Amino acid sequence: MNSSNPPQAAEYGGDEVSAIVLDPGYSTTRAGFAGEDAPKSLIPTYYGKYNANGQEKLIFGDDVFVTPRPGLSVHNPIGKDGIVEDWDLAEKVWEYSFTSRLTGGKPGNPFQNGLNDIPHEELPTEMEVETHEKPLADSPLLMTESGWNPAKAREKTIEVAMENWGSPAYYQARTGVLAAFASGKASALVVDIGASNISITPVHDGMILKRGVQHSPLGGDYISSQIRALFKSNSPQPITITPHYLISSKTAVEAGQPPQAKYKTFPPEKAPDASYRSLLEDRTLSEFKECVVQVWPGPNKLAATGPTGVSNEEMARTTPGRPFEFPDGYNQVFGADRFRVVESLFDAKAALPDPDSPFPAPTQAQTVPELIKASLGGVDVDIRPHLLANVVVTGASSLLYGFTDRLNHELMQLFPGPRVRISAPGNTAERRFASWIGGSILASLGTFHQMWISKKEYEEHGPNIVEKRCK
Ligand SMILES: Nc1ncnc2c1ncn2[C@@H]1O[C@H](COP(=O)(O)OP(=O)(O)OP(=O)(O)O)[C@@H](O)[C@H]1O
Ligand SMILES: [Mg+2]
Repeated sequence: MNSSNPPQAAEYGGDEVSAIVLDPGYSTTRAGFAGEDAPKSLIPTYYGKYNANGQEKLIFGDDVFVTPRPGLSVHNPIGKDGIVEDWDLAEKVWEYSFTSRLTGGKPGNPFQNGLNDIPHEELPTEMEVETHEKPLADSPLLMTESGWNPAKAREKTIEVAMENWGSPAYYQARTGVLAAFASGKASALVVDIGASNISITPVHDGMILKRGVQHSPLGGDYISSQIRALFKSNSPQPITITPHYLISSKTAVEAGQPPQAKYKTFPPEKAPDASYRSLLEDRTLSEFKECVVQVWPGPNKLAATGPTGVSNEEMARTTPGRPFEFPDGYNQVFGADRFRVVESLFDAKAALPDPDSPFPAPTQAQTVPELIKASLGGVDVDIRPHLLANVVVTGASSLLYGFTDRLNHELMQLFPGPRVRISAPGNTAERRFASWIGGSILASLGTFHQMWISKKEYEEHGPNIVEKRCK
């Protein structure tokens, strides 16, 4: 069979089974059935590892957060650039995302991989019968990937899907293209503010314009590192985040007063690894981003002076602050600082210095406006106005309060001529899951049938078929 021939319905079960859409991000992995509105399964991409009776154990899903086991360390199979680093573990995390909530008790699932410690006698008996069936033997799979995922990683992914999971049909699509689809657009400039990365993807007629894809590490994790920098230099005193598992009780205190809490301590041999604490601290930082952090709305940088001669900093100081309470009861009202922690997404010079941060000081080229400029510079002049009229904002970090207002001002300053129009769904789930939702729409389109790579085609052409079919 030639690779341009569509697979026959029978090869992947036709319409009777819903395809599974798997959208693996750096912070969370989303999975669900094509045609549905939202992913049924949402798990952290982080997994836990510890030793029990001399054996290495792994923990997947939300269980990672639950018990501070001795020596429990937390890892991510995806690298900081959003590309898989540890294939074995990426496969296990992804497999857990669909077997735990979607495909249920297939023997290939992690309950029988020795994962998550389900004792053998507690397994449902029917799972023990079909010992040869692979976890996705019945389900076509659509997976998402970043616009800069290298060919090698794409081939490795189809290999995992076809050979290890037994998918009867497979397709791989770029998150940018899918986010555009989710907004009902075949052409768009997609601005994705994620966890490990921010990216700009120009999409034209449903195709990614590769030369215009730009990305930089100034995503949600970077913003968290900026908040940590702020906490260290906070006045009246530096702020330490103590996660809930280290607190046995707390008493309410006045704003800015030292916390009055009883802390739990673990003897060294009982304590979880520092990476566990750090993951739980990140949850508080995420909450802080949702409730306190605010993007200076513009026009112009926070460091600039407004038209009336009053500096924007001064304006920021006079806006009412926002209170936040930490797990140990410490609470404070955050004034202009809440703008400063995120200003470097637009103005690299505004980054708060922190010698301990894993993120080097950002460059201006890594900021959102410069990435957009570079992205448009990489595409045909004729389609630039069309892209600017269809800017799609996605990624959970784009939910930062005021983000789209500032983006709008920045774009109007950068491109005063053409009409700039931003579409950013007000619905949080649509913003967080746009690439999954786009995948759900795509995989359930009748016309999509001819796009699937069938098992037979894979066997005939090898993993390289993904490069030919999934442009
Ligand atoms: N309401 C919010 N306001 C600001 N930031 C938020 C909000 N909700 C979640 N975040 C942050 O968004 C990030 C997760 O974003 P998202 O789910 O888009 O990332 P991802 O797809 O897992 O990662 P990546 O795109 O880098 O692979 C986290 O850093 C989280 O702290
Ligand atoms: Mg993402």
